[in-house]
Amino acid sequence: MKHRPRRLRKNSAIRSLVMETVLNANDFICPVFIIEGENIKREIPSMPGQFHFSLNRLEKEINEIISLGIKGVLLFGLPEHKDEYGGSAYAENGAVQRAVRLIKHNYPEILVITDVCLCQYTSHGHCGIIENKSIDNDKSVEVLAKVALSHAKAGADMVAPSDMMDGRVKAIREILDKNNFKKVSIMSYSAKYASAFYGPFRGAVSSAPSFGDRKTYQMDPANSDEAIHEAELDLEEGADILMVKPAMAYMDIIYRFKQNFNVPVAAYSVSGEYSMIKTASLAGFIDEKQVVTETITGIKRAGADLIITYFAKDVAGWFSP
Ligand code: PBG
Repeated sequence: MKHRPRRLRKNSAIRSLVMETVLNANDFICPVFIIEGENIKREIPSMPGQFHFSLNRLEKEINEIISLGIKGVLLFGLPEHKDEYGGSAYAENGAVQRAVRLIKHNYPEILVITDVCLCQYTSHGHCGIIENKSIDNDKSVEVLAKVALSHAKAGADMVAPSDMMDGRVKAIREILDKNNFKKVSIMSYSAKYASAFYGPFRGAVSSAPSFGDRKTYQMDPANSDEAIHEAELDLEEGADILMVKPAMAYMDIIYRFKQNFNVPVAAYSVSGEYSMIKTASLAGFIDEKQVVTETITGIKRAGADLIITYFAKDVAGWFSP
């Protein structure tokens, strides 16, 4: 027999030598939830092993993230007050804005990315401004641009709009440039699907919409060409990095982005992906380390250059250089 592919699987040395996809702490971005208040490090019930941090408990966490070799954090805020217009999302002294200042002051080397959206900040839980019972695209974009600017003023390196309104990347690029934040980059949630995998996150930040759903702005899971169209528009509007979200059920979209575009592709393995694996492993049904490694390897193999995952600290620890 001439062909025996098993020769290259004979022992772990040869397997390591021919391994195509190698995980590295540099691949990961770690999401961090910041809450108003003092002395809080509270576990999120829908996401075991993930926490809400108040500012004075944040530093230790960031220190740990950096010491594991992780190069970026993605910040989410939980405001004290929500209103119809999401006004607290661009407050100069909001939790996220203060966290950005604190982190950049003490740890200038870590890349600070902020989630730009309104759903955590609006009383109705939608990602935009409501006019006549529907989400008004252009009014929402105006507010989102203000949010991005407030993050840049605080010192964010990168903003990540996750709202899926039309034209928001352009509006954000314009307001940043006009205010001399030309170096702040944009990672666009280009293909963000209307997904049930966000369930645990919405529990974590109490942002479930109080009426209707997000299907008029987030994408239909049935569509793939539409994702390419969204990505083309985002690039034209000035996005630096394209993101696919969620990850596991959308590996083909990650692959298509990587094949079609010559910019870095990010994949966001969301709360539902995390909690499924976490709870199954806590129940003893699966081996957490092996399943996480296999999943993240799959996401990277599909084409993701940056991987946003709630397992970032674990994986970085396992695969530190
Ligand atoms: C805000 C936002 C959401 C997530 C990230 N940014 C929730 C949503 O769109 O409902 C989900 C993150 C996760 O599930 O881990 N728009």
